[in-house]
Amino acid sequence: MTDRPVGMLDSGLGGISVLAQALRDLPREDYVYFGDTANIPYGDKDPSEVMRLTRLGVDKLMAHGCKAIVIACNTATSVAAEQLRKELSIPVIGIEPALKPASLLPGEGQILVLATQVTLRLPKFHALMERYGSNAVPVPCSGLMECVESGQLEGERVDALLRSYLAPYLDKPIKAVVLGCTHYPFLRKAIAALLPPGTPLVDGNAGTVRQLGRRLAEEALLAPPEHTGGKVTFLTSSRDPATLRHMQCMLETAMAML
Ligand code: DGL
Repeated sequence: MTDRPVGMLDSGLGGISVLAQALRDLPREDYVYFGDTANIPYGDKDPSEVMRLTRLGVDKLMAHGCKAIVIACNTATSVAAEQLRKELSIPVIGIEPALKPASLLPGEGQILVLATQVTLRLPKFHALMERYGSNAVPVPCSGLMECVESGQLEGERVDALLRSYLAPYLDKPIKAVVLGCTHYPFLRKAIAALLPPGTPLVDGNAGTVRQLGRRLAEEALLAPPEHTGGKVTFLTSSRDPATLRHMQCMLETAMAML
């Protein structure tokens, strides 16, 4: 069981930013990554549909014998993590907007939480806001994930969208920006360019991988020391043969950004 892979899933390419972090921090593990590219975006869909699609993704990962599941998608985590933890006998790790670490940073000003409509609308996020969000503002960012999916990590379209979302907040001090969708770390450079220099951009990837490591250790599922690890298998719902190559390229991009 310990030498089985960890399964990860996202609506598309975003979770590859979490996969890169996992390869760096838990290099002895192997990974199977499923991107539900045929069904993007999750963030504008009805939660019942996100639940259905997430289950289908999890089934694919289970068929590959995964020993744990990482829902590398804030949207799918908000909708499905609690329920899947009840149903599955293996660890299920989710990701949430990193509002807690952002709130603990020094400095004054607003915390902008960039995420999908669904993530920001569901009770899981409201609970997070109640605990850590006294100076946080939710900023739904429809359309941004599509830029990442189409390989546009900077340029006019990305800038125009980002400007439209961030402009209302730029005349007040900003303490931090939370990247509450796993696609957004790919847009770090474009986002930083619109903010005062040095504004922290906080994502939940490292915390999620730490939690994966903790859960694997608790369940005695960590890969053994003699296991080489680092093997990645990509799966996609897309019928376009170029998608698997694109996933590999995005992994290289994500590794270079760490
Ligand atoms: N990457 C996903 C997230 O973390 C969602 C993007 C989408 O499908 O809308 O929320």
